[in-house]
Amino acid sequence: MRSLRHLPRAAAIFAAFHAAALPALRAQPTLKDTYRGMFHLGAAIRPDQVNGRTPQAAELILREFDSISPENVLKVGPIHPRPGNDDSSYDFAPADQFVDFGVKHKLFTIGHTLCWHSQLPAWLDQQQKSAEPTITKAELTQFLRDHIMKVVGRYKGRVHGWDVVNEALNDGAGGYRQTIFHRVIGQDYLVMAFKWAHEADPAAELYYNDYNLDANDAKRTSCLELIKYLRANGAPITGVGMQGHYNLNTPSAAKVDETIKLFADLGLKVMITELDVRAVGAAPVTGAVGAGGGGGRGRGAPPSLTAEQQQALAQRYADLFAVFVKHRAAITRVTFWGLRDTDSWRRASSPLIFDDHYQPKPAYHAVLNAAKSAGPAKAK
Ligand code: G3I
Repeated sequence: MRSLRHLPRAAAIFAAFHAAALPALRAQPTLKDTYRGMFHLGAAIRPDQVNGRTPQAAELILREFDSISPENVLKVGPIHPRPGNDDSSYDFAPADQFVDFGVKHKLFTIGHTLCWHSQLPAWLDQQQKSAEPTITKAELTQFLRDHIMKVVGRYKGRVHGWDVVNEALNDGAGGYRQTIFHRVIGQDYLVMAFKWAHEADPAAELYYNDYNLDANDAKRTSCLELIKYLRANGAPITGVGMQGHYNLNTPSAAKVDETIKLFADLGLKVMITELDVRAVGAAPVTGAVGAGGGGGRGRGAPPSLTAEQQQALAQRYADLFAVFVKHRAAITRVTFWGLRDTDSWRRASSPLIFDDHYQPKPAYHAVLNAAKSAGPAKAK
């Protein structure tokens, strides 16, 4: 340390104190620093967090994460609300801001999602709700192709991985969800969606994304069959997204471990794409909207947790991340579905690792510490 003799006495004392305290004050390792070389750490983010309106959110995102997912702005309804395929049919601005933020900060940027039965444009949602949809197979096929080619093409080279198809499988007994796409086009919409996405951006990773793959054996079996079907028909699938909308105790860490291994053994990349853990309440995740109510900001502040509840949440995240670290050779990303409890679609159960004031909860430190469970790094 440079001599302090040249400084006035008071300044010398402060400089000495600062230098002595510096190691302790030096920025703590962040989530992305801690997991660098194992897998990306991401968060689902909202427009106000990347358009300058919430600088505190942007600061937290850039400090802690190296990947971002769009909570809503790249879904079919929000980005393509009007029939037709010229630019006037689309609302690109919020998605452009999201992607530009990723490019500016060199983040691993995700596109969620190109084909999902929820958050469809109103005109198509009416068809889906109809027992006898009037849209023809040719019309819907054209719409889906146009949408995928236009959106993936627009962000070519800037969105690195796409949830091409989201939640195409039933809960309960498994099998295919009877979405408008399945009913009108047929099962091969799944194959075509992946092929179109690959045609539009051959370098992008392409995923199938769903929830409860580790909580419902029938659904998991259906997912394994779906992957086999996609591959048998030449669909270029890169990986599978296990959403990870968990409760405090279900599914068990062992079940999560077993499921990751099943997909990894197929040579797929595995991602935890929408991680959150109900800290209070234990209703099963019964559907994209049913589980915790649709998103939006909901009402009221998330419940503040007791010390016991904070500790239970921290332990659950520690157990989950120990499994992710164990499978780091296959896992390429873990994304939290939201930044703070307030931002969560499940806000009523305080499920995330940052509180309303962007402060880390005990669960945050548990996630950091879980990285220490890594043995010698395995080659990727
Ligand atoms: O943008 C409109 C706004 O204009 C309108 O005033 C407001 C009225 O309530 O609604 C706003 O849209 C809401 C949208 O979130 C944006 O805030 C929708 O109503 C609301 O349903 C939608 O909820 C989203 C939900 O998906 C829809 O199913 C949640 O934010 C989002 O976190 C959630 O995320 C899904 C994943 O995409 C797929 N996996 C399940 C996960 C949880 O459902």
